[in-house]
Order: sequence, then C-alpha cells, then structure tokens
Amino acid sequence: MPDIQPAIFAASVLASLFCLEANASEPVQLPGIANAFRVTDRILSGSQPGGDAAFRALADLGVKTIVSVDGAKPDLETARRFGLRYIHLPIGYDGVPQARVPELAKVAQKPAEGLIFVHCHHGKHRGPTAVAIMCEIAEGWSPAKAEEWLRKAGTGTEYAGLYRSVLEFKPVTKEQIAAVGPLPEIAKTPGIVDAMIAIDEHFDLLKEAQRAGWQSAPGDATLLLEQYREIARLEDTAKRNDSYRALLAKGTEAATQLAEALRTHSADKADAAIKELRENCAACHKEHRNQRK
Ligand code: HEC
Repeated sequence: MPDIQPAIFAASVLASLFCLEANASEPVQLPGIANAFRVTDRILSGSQPGGDAAFRALADLGVKTIVSVDGAKPDLETARRFGLRYIHLPIGYDGVPQARVPELAKVAQKPAEGLIFVHCHHGKHRGPTAVAIMCEIAEGWSPAKAEEWLRKAGTGTEYAGLYRSVLEFKPVTKEQIAAVGPLPEIAKTPGIVDAMIAIDEHFDLLKEAQRAGWQSAPGDATLLLEQYREIARLEDTAKRNDSYRALLAKGTEAATQLAEALRTHSADKADAAIKELRENCAACHKEHRNQRK
C-alpha cells in the first residue's frame, strides 16, 4: 500500500497552518435523514433519505441533484415526485476508484443548478468520502481539510482506504471531466458474484494474518463484515430461501466475532471465528452454489 506522498504531506501541513477557510461544515436537522451536514454552500451530506418528508425537506432547501454512492437502488420514484434527480455512483468501503473521480468532478463542477445532496447508507463513511473528493475538486479543499471533514462526519478510521482516497487525491483535468459520459440514475450494481469475489479476497488476507500469528490486526475483518452486510441487501438475497438467509446471518455473526476478536487482540477467539467462517462458506456453497442447475 502506497504511503502518503511527501509533497501531499507537505501541502497538507501547510494547509493546516492556514486552516481558517470559509465553508465550515455544520450539522443540520432534516427529517428522515441521519448524519446530515451542510458541508459547503452548495453541498450537503447525510444518510439515505427515508420517506416523503426527507425528500420534501431536501427540495425545500433548494436541492436539485441527489448523488447516491450506496450500492442499493435509489428511490427514483419518490425523488421525482419532489422534482429531484438522482445520480448513482456506488463506491465500496475500501476507497474511491480512480475512475469515479472524474464522475464526481462532473457532478461537483460549477455552475450547477441548485444544491447537491450526497448520501450513502448511514451517511458516515462512503458518502462523506465522496463529498470530500468533490470539495477537493470544486472547492479547493486541501487533503488535510478533507481529512478533518471525514473525522467530523464520523468516518471510521478502520476504513483506511476511504481516508487514503482523500489524502492521496489526484486532481483530474478538464479533458477527463469532458470525457465522462451521461451519469446513470441507477448504476448496474455489483451482484452476488462480485460480492463473493470481494469476500474471498478479504478472507484470504485474514487467513494470511492468521498464519502470521495475528501480529497485525488488519482492517479486512471490518471490510469482510461490510461485505456480508451488503450481500444481505442485494436483490438476489431477497429472492433466495430462508435457509440461505439463515446461513448468511450466521456468517455475518462470525464476521462480527472476528472483527471484535481482532479489536480486543484475542487470538483464540479470532481462530475460532475463522473456523466458524470457513464452515459457513462451505455449508452455504454446498447447499446453494454447488448444486445449482
Ligand atoms: C449465504 C451463502 C454464502 C456464503 C455464507 C458464502 N458464499 Fe460464496 N457463494 C455463494 C453463492 C450462491 C455463490 C455463487 C454465485 C453465482 O455464481 O451466482 C458463491 C460463489 C463464491 C465464489 C465464486 C465467485 C466467482 O468467481 O464466480 C467464491 C470465491 C466464494 N463464493 C467465496 C466465499 C467465501 C471465501 C466465503 C466465506 C468467507 C463465502 N463465499 C461465503 C454463497 C455464499
């Protein structure tokens, strides 16, 4: 994993010395929206809007565009009823892919019609990260200011990739922004296969850490857990049977135990959770993958 480049580090030290910029982000109370912040005069951040009252409150504030970086399908129907348009640019908990940056730039660039509301699921981790990138692009935020905002929004420091995305932000050119095509209202969201590939990668790294005697307590336990939670929210999961969902819940519980064991440096409990997870992967595959026609 790359270290923060010295130049960026120097820039962020300088920026923090002169950190009296305008646009201090302020929490705001909005019905049906948790963790809501007015981040700049143009950009708001928060959780997924819940129900008519939430969308109405956004419209009343002058929001015209909602950006969701969550994996779930946006509620286009309700948004439209309040004259709001959606742009769906999902990102993972492991960071903002470079290909997303020009897309976020396209949304953030001035002049834009009305205010922009950016949300993920809880409004704490991925959404604030996308907001930080947008402000680094359009508001001239330094990496240090972006990091300060993530802390204020409550972005978990265990999501090292999200922090890295804002600290190692690379500006995009006008040409790159111009090359971005129309942005989707609903993105093609990753399905079960992508989710399994991600689970497999995190699990491999965790098994490696186990072989090394748990000397490092990698953030991969948290990422593995998030991946189980994302699977629970997939449409694919809703279509499967109760046995599948029970196995998924069991795996989620084991991943929770593992994250907890690593947080409390309990190697025995971590070993037990890995065993539990292994059996759970195998049980679900036996019943729901390998016998599928
Ligand atoms: C709740 C059920 C369930 C659990 C738990 C589960 N899987 Fe899966 N997994 C599936 C299903 C279903 C597929 C097949 C998806 C398809 O091809 O449509 C799959 C596919 C896969 C694949 C193949 C992906 C590809 O390239 O096609 C890998 C690798 C994988 N799982 C790894 C894991 C690991 C590692 C674990 C445990 C840490 C795990 N899975 C836990 C249900 C599960």
